[in-house]
Amino acid sequence: VSPLRVALLGYGLAGRVIHRPLLQRVPELALTHVVTADPGRQAAARAEVPGAQVLTSAEQLWQCADAFDVVVVATPNDVHVPLARTAVDLRKAVVVDKPLALSATEAATLVAHAATAGVPLSVFHNRRWDSDSLTARDLLADGRLGRVHRLEARFTRFRPQVQQRWREEPGSGGVLLDLGTHLVDQAVHLLGPVRSVYSEVQELRSGAVVDDDAFLALTHASGARSLLWCSAAAPWTGPRLVLQGSAAGWAKQDLDGQEAAQRDGAEPGPEPDGTLWDEAGTHPVPSRQGDWAAFYRGFAGAVLAGRPVPVDPQDAVEVQRVLEAARRSSGAGEVMRLEGPEAALA
Ligand SMILES: NC(=O)c1ccc[n+]([C@@H]2O[C@H](COP(=O)([O-])OP(=O)(O)OC[C@H]3O[C@@H](n4cnc5c(N)ncnc54)[C@H](O)[C@@H]3O)[C@@H](O)[C@H]2O)c1
Repeated sequence: VSPLRVALLGYGLAGRVIHRPLLQRVPELALTHVVTADPGRQAAARAEVPGAQVLTSAEQLWQCADAFDVVVVATPNDVHVPLARTAVDLRKAVVVDKPLALSATEAATLVAHAATAGVPLSVFHNRRWDSDSLTARDLLADGRLGRVHRLEARFTRFRPQVQQRWREEPGSGGVLLDLGTHLVDQAVHLLGPVRSVYSEVQELRSGAVVDDDAFLALTHASGARSLLWCSAAAPWTGPRLVLQGSAAGWAKQDLDGQEAAQRDGAEPGPEPDGTLWDEAGTHPVPSRQGDWAAFYRGFAGAVLAGRPVPVDPQDAVEVQRVLEAARRSSGAGEVMRLEGPEAALA
């Protein structure tokens, strides 16, 4: 029945700034429950989501399971799996923010559990709907770049002081699991499955106890390569996304504007052009507008009309396999091979 009633778990950066405005924009969805223990955030939720029930714990939410249809998990990473598992057991369609789990094995177990239960599960890999990803897909599809042999992507910040927060603590934290998830998903989405990984994962900042800087070199099954940088310790950053092909190269400079706009309660402005280089010179390339709401339009279609979920959760498992291989590579100083699904069948 439309609109689907959505319960949002967590009202921090992700819940409040990223998911709420998107959920409020999609007519097939109604945000009816918000769960957060923090009194300040509860007050914010009451003001920003009129009519929603604001609850203090997941346990409270599970007790009114008849009152909602969809669960969105936007909590710290360590509770993604237990919360999503309970939602599946209650037969609620589930969206889990990235990373799906703390490990590939844990992710795969959850995906299998949802599949067995016949419950729609998707993972919020929203950066597939960034301006740069959408424009890159168009360029790959129209062939203007020729044969694309390399992708470069950066998602870096400069936060020289280590802070006391779960993101920077052992267990859930680290830049690889945080920003690396976005970069690897984007690379796989654009250039296909990964067959080997070389990586350097470091703690650069004074007092850092989890990784705050990582470089990954992926070789895709196609032979193309992706070079990816994520960091909390990068004073300088290069272009957000670059594609190098046999006929032309293309770059988009800056991070998509949706998060910044949603933080300000504004509509994102037009995205700056990218640049294409070919033998004739340089050419501006209009950038597609980012569209994170597409994820939720797709998810509503999956639940209401039985269409495929917008992000296959198996993709999130594959991303976590790549990240784990990256960590092993960095530890061993060696290239790690990943077996493809066809190897598992052999
Ligand atoms: N896809 C994206 O663009 C994006 C951006 C930011 C964060 N995230 C992801 O969103 C998640 C949350 O990140 P954040 O920055 O919002 O964190 P945060 O610390 O700002 O907020 C976390 C929220 O979860 C609540 N919470 C904690 N434990 C809970 C539990 N057991 N049950 C219910 N609620 C609980 C907290 O009270 C808080 O409201 C992380 O997994 C992160 O990776 C994704």
